[in-house]
Amino acid sequence: MRIDIITVLPDLIRSPFEASILKRAEQKGKAIVVLHDLRKYGFGKHSQVDDYQFGGGAGMVLMIEPILNCINELKKERSYDEVIYMTPDGKTFDQDDANQLSLKENLIILCGHYKGIDQRLRDHVITKEISIGDFVLSGGELAAAVVADAVIRLIPGVLNDETSALTDSFQDDLLAPPVYTRPADFNGWKVPDILLSGNFPKIEEWRHEQAVKRTEERRPDLLED
Ligand code: ADE
Repeated sequence: MRIDIITVLPDLIRSPFEASILKRAEQKGKAIVVLHDLRKYGFGKHSQVDDYQFGGGAGMVLMIEPILNCINELKKERSYDEVIYMTPDGKTFDQDDANQLSLKENLIILCGHYKGIDQRLRDHVITKEISIGDFVLSGGELAAAVVADAVIRLIPGVLNDETSALTDSFQDDLLAPPVYTRPADFNGWKVPDILLSGNFPKIEEWRHEQAVKRTEERRPDLLED
């Protein structure tokens, strides 16, 4: 998979892709993330990428041309499955979206800034609009990093323990059960006996019960349908 991220602040999201599993995904040839500085496509000696909004009102709007020139340059090299725009008024991202995007080959993610991008880009060029939650960030960069992380870790071969993504919270509409490691008794704080029993069918049953209990308590909405 290849993800091209277009942003006015490439420095803001460089580090997540140079650390952690995202780096390993790249080293293993499973996923590559390429950052594109929108200013390179800006106008004039100030590399202008934004302008005042028609009709007045506070806040600048990212212009069509620099963004379109950048996207078109990328599209000359390969075809893209989606051109995603990160925006708080997009569809709230969830694990199903991550699963679906993890099957794609090439993605463009455009990060919004200021008041956002010219609506005509959203009407004619953007194919998917994603929000990471009902709150407003100062730009789409951190949201893009969140989406890229959630997607890339699902690509087969990226995680060492292949089963670990399958047992994540949300993969079966249940939260993950509690987990424990050594010591089995920390100053009287004991690990549940069942986990030390070696009875693996019973352990699986216990984990499922715990997952259901946790979901009922914390996220009953996940059990609704
Ligand atoms: N840009 C600003 N806030 C955002 C959010 N919540 N999700 C995605 N992009 C954003």
